[in-house]
Amino acid sequence: MKIAVIGLGFVGLSLATVLATKSFSVIGIDSDKNKISTLRNCKIPFYEPRLDILLKKTLKRKLIVSSDISLIKDCKLIFISVGTPPQNDGSIDLRMIQSVTAQIAQILTQMKNEPIILVKSTVIPGTTEKKILPILEKKSRKKVGKNFGLITNPEFLRETKAVEDTLQPHVVVLGGNNDKFLKFVKKFYSRLHPNVPIISTNHQTAEIIKYANNSFLATKISFINQIARICEAIRGANVDDVAKAIGLDPRIGPLFLNAGPGYGGSCLPKDIKAVINFASQAGVNSSLLNAVELINEDQLFNIISIIKKKLSPIVGKKITVLGLAFKPDTDDVRDSVSLKLIKLLLKNKVSVVVHDPIAIENTRAIFDSKIYYAKSVKDALRGSNCAIIMTAWKEYSVLSSKDFKLMKKQLIIDCRRILAEKKLDVEYYAVGIGL
Ligand code: UDX
Repeated sequence: MKIAVIGLGFVGLSLATVLATKSFSVIGIDSDKNKISTLRNCKIPFYEPRLDILLKKTLKRKLIVSSDISLIKDCKLIFISVGTPPQNDGSIDLRMIQSVTAQIAQILTQMKNEPIILVKSTVIPGTTEKKILPILEKKSRKKVGKNFGLITNPEFLRETKAVEDTLQPHVVVLGGNNDKFLKFVKKFYSRLHPNVPIISTNHQTAEIIKYANNSFLATKISFINQIARICEAIRGANVDDVAKAIGLDPRIGPLFLNAGPGYGGSCLPKDIKAVINFASQAGVNSSLLNAVELINEDQLFNIISIIKKKLSPIVGKKITVLGLAFKPDTDDVRDSVSLKLIKLLLKNKVSVVVHDPIAIENTRAIFDSKIYYAKSVKDALRGSNCAIIMTAWKEYSVLSSKDFKLMKKQLIIDCRRILAEKKLDVEYYAVGIGL
């Protein structure tokens, strides 16, 4: 069977390569010609563990990558996994998905094989039925359920675990009408992932499932961050022990209870904003999700207020930010809390020094010469008045008092508690630990 994947970001490229390893003939399409030529050279334009190996293994054998969307014409399954970036009011920008849909509809006019279009991109409830379907039917002059299938198929993969999650997702969600196309896709997924539960429902429920999932994850993080702030007010309290204990309650579970500087990344902040925006347009007051966002923002303000208190005045001081990626093992800085921190520090006329094992270039593209990019952790600490550990990279967990001696003032703010167990000869503050 021939399968097309349109949009080769984390989701699309992982899907395309994984399907190609399963012996399907896969055509990966992306309008970005530079990206296609990078991929053709067996290189991934972003950092994602294992994905380069899969690309090397599948390219030119079972996987073709191209910018020519007309290549989808004899594919049975057509996955859409283009971005739906946030707009200023929190709503999502549908231009990319609408444009791809219009191109598919055009090709659909010549297709004889009754293809199935699967929407993997995250879209707000109603989008598949009210925005995507009309474009497909109108432009192709064909009927859904008769000449082609349309299925909402949200994706839950995590960056840094994209391959693993694509190979073995925790669930497959299928939204659509209960027709022959849905049955076909159910069979396809049950063969691909024999032990993974499949939830089939209508389009709009499938769409809200994705938002509910990410809203709950964000809620868990803000919950533990709120508890972290309370712990900070209790001498000797440690949020990690609290998380460990409550995580053993099977009703709570141990995951997503790591207190920190707040959640970032390309999904959680954007999705929470989109669902709040959608709810408010529907006349629903999403007070819990508003609080989740507020707590998330407060984490950063709390860090800044500690620095201001300890370094008063902070104007002109040299401050080191350790970790720029929104989590370890990625070079992705999209909506990373570190970037927000840097912006706030610059606003306060601080001289900012940054370090990250792999996310420096992506950060340079944003701040250019406004900050100093250290080549090593030691270089980053030298002469600094304060170091803030933002991302839990392994190499920061081996830092010792000797390394911090390079600093002018040994003030450490550890947002991930990776040095909490060490006896350090420094002034040490950690998110979630009461002094
Ligand atoms: C997330 C969802 O996990 C995934 O299901 C969805 O498809 C896309 O969004 P991802 O963006 O890759 O995945 O990152 P994730 O690992 O979920 O982390 C998001 C943010 O939350 C990071 O900034 C991370 O540091 C933070 N986080 C996560 C915490 O602060 N504490 C935790 O316990 C977990």
